[in-house]
Amino acid sequence: MSSEVGERSAVIAEAFPPFVRKENVRMRSFTSWVILPILSGLLLTSAENRIDDYQPQHVHIVIGETSKDMVITWTTFTDTPSSVVEYGNAGLTQTATGSSTQFTDGGTEHRNLWMHRVILKDLQPDTMYFYHCGSQLGWSELFVFKTWKNGTDWPVSVAMYGDMGAVNAQSLPRLQEEVQRGMYDAVIHVGDFAYNMDSDNARVGDEFMRQIQPIAAYVPYLTCPGNHEQMYNFSNYRARFSMPNHEDTENLFFSWNMGPVHFIAVNTEAYYFLEYGLKPLSRQYDWLIKDLEEATKPEVRAERPWIILFGHRPMYCSNNDHDDCTRVNCLTRVGLPLVNLYAMEELLQKYGVDLAVWAHEHSYERLWPMYNYTVLNGSTEAPYTNPRAPVHITTGSAGCDENHDHFMPAQPDWSAFRAIDYGYTRVKIFNKTHMYWEQCRFSLRQNGSSSSEAALDGAPATGTPNVVLMSSMARSGSSFLGGLLSSLPGVFYFFEPLHNIEHWHMLSPATARDGLRGLLTCNITGAIRKAVRTRGKYTVYHPYTRRCATKEACFNSLLDETCRKEKFRVVKTIRARVSWLTSLLDDPEVDLRIIHLVRDPRGSVISNWKADWAPISEATSCQNLLSDLRDGARLRRQRPGKFLTVRYEDLCLDPRLMAEVILSFLGYSKLPQPTATYLDKQTKTTRDTKTYSLKRDTKSQQQKWRTTITDEEFARIEKACAASILLLGFNLFGSVEAARNLSLPLYNSSADHRAFDHRFCLRE
Ligand SMILES: [Fe+2]
Repeated sequence: MSSEVGERSAVIAEAFPPFVRKENVRMRSFTSWVILPILSGLLLTSAENRIDDYQPQHVHIVIGETSKDMVITWTTFTDTPSSVVEYGNAGLTQTATGSSTQFTDGGTEHRNLWMHRVILKDLQPDTMYFYHCGSQLGWSELFVFKTWKNGTDWPVSVAMYGDMGAVNAQSLPRLQEEVQRGMYDAVIHVGDFAYNMDSDNARVGDEFMRQIQPIAAYVPYLTCPGNHEQMYNFSNYRARFSMPNHEDTENLFFSWNMGPVHFIAVNTEAYYFLEYGLKPLSRQYDWLIKDLEEATKPEVRAERPWIILFGHRPMYCSNNDHDDCTRVNCLTRVGLPLVNLYAMEELLQKYGVDLAVWAHEHSYERLWPMYNYTVLNGSTEAPYTNPRAPVHITTGSAGCDENHDHFMPAQPDWSAFRAIDYGYTRVKIFNKTHMYWEQCRFSLRQNGSSSSEAALDGAPATGTPNVVLMSSMARSGSSFLGGLLSSLPGVFYFFEPLHNIEHWHMLSPATARDGLRGLLTCNITGAIRKAVRTRGKYTVYHPYTRRCATKEACFNSLLDETCRKEKFRVVKTIRARVSWLTSLLDDPEVDLRIIHLVRDPRGSVISNWKADWAPISEATSCQNLLSDLRDGARLRRQRPGKFLTVRYEDLCLDPRLMAEVILSFLGYSKLPQPTATYLDKQTKTTRDTKTYSLKRDTKSQQQKWRTTITDEEFARIEKACAASILLLGFNLFGSVEAARNLSLPLYNSSADHRAFDHRFCLRE
């Protein structure tokens, strides 16, 4: 969207209730303040009270009035005489006290919970703080958080998602992992929690809050309400969180500043639960205009140009479930029926909101910049550079017991990308001009249940694309991965028939490309047929060639016929260049996906030197690897969904997960049984491994080179390959001693790991 501060570009990879009397949320009475401390010692010894009742649970944090303050919130099941946080950046040297609020759930049991809130004030910016919370009757474990930087010139990184339940929270372990690795400055939950927080007399809410503690106790956890929170006038939601300005708006709408971004949370439910009155809606609407007026004052926007608004229900979607967003006159977009009051879309357009993030639909959808059903791209070539309208994104697929929502078969022109799978969104606002957006997606179900849109073996119901599995260098694990692909039902697998593809390419680029095309379309002719025949049955892994006894008879036209009968072809090749294969991606007859397997050259080059081959030059190898990584990054942008880069190290660390990532890329919804069996056989062995053996304990192979590399090898390779090592997201060690110190991490936590999304989707 155009702005006074210059060009901004987004790169995209992928009822408010009345401010009620507190009938459910009562402040702790004076009596309890006085009496409870006296009784607490007695209570501890009482048979009716367990120590658990005083134990802090559901710990979560959020910024206060400004990012200098942090509000620590937790729950106990019995009130405690005090609410205390001990904290500090070098030990628990400071103490802050707060208060507790009694919350009575609206269910039949009227369960009581006590919500404790303590504000840590005047914290140092960009500083790590340790803390624990509780009282003399019980303390939480030790947690840590890092305060945000001051000012507007720092890159902001947040995760955003909606619709995460206490059951089937597919994104939860990944988010726990990523948060504790320090990937995010905040996490934003765009409504619909627990399913539902009020269920089972609020015990489901308790369970959900326990589940998110490994996230929410470490980074600010920001929220807005969804329809699943509406029970008892949103009381569970209002009571459990402590968003900025919660004293006034009870977590329903608010805004905050973060680096170069102004974030706004709105309550879309105010448009739908009108039984709670119109006042919540009118109050929010007036507040929103005021907030946007302030955020768009020229001097303010020059300093903080990005505006990201989020709320639960989308204004647009192409799902087929008849939700309000499927209707042209969606309430949040055009306002209440007949009177058209409180229409939000015109505010988004008028004040130049950059991003509008929604959830509610259990799917992912990104729109072109649009207003009033009109696409207003920045330009044809760069639609998200200076777009002329807000960009809407729906990210409601974090995982809940309602599984997925499906799409209408025809994708509307205004919808740029959509996906039915589980996942969450990573947003990085690098500076005042550039934002990056990506969806971390994972399609396969952990429980192995079948998917209604997939065939029984998990394969796509409508065909499977052909695959070229390529590695920039030999000794990168391509035989293991090729074997895994060849275990898929219906595959015709070619194992390096173009063994010296670089020679073919030197002869003529067209020869190498046409050779591969011939294999992928089962038109094996001329020199390629000769090459396949010469290397015999070792080039084709298929029951046909296993059965076929006579060489000549095997490699005639029957080979083509058999090849065509299968669902798809896989061709493994090494030492090909990414640039040689690009044109094949545009060939409709080939329908190709490319899997590019890469490995830390400090492992692959040494392995190559140790194999019985002519040693390769580390400089040439790494130059090729570097150009392939760069070409691969370009292809992922230009042809999304057609090119996947896989790190050998990730494959070693979690073969099962990586197999799921790769099969998901090919459209599978689960691992077919033969592939699961292959994985088990190949990876669960304690036997030592010979150079060409596939059977190995893969975890032990991941960084094995670090224990065996010599001084000379290390110096040569790290020097020649520094750029490619860094691009792979690995650390340079600088010395062989450091390399051998396995306590130093291989993965560089500050590197850009976008090419290797799955690295951060590892399960615990
Ligand atoms: Fe919802």
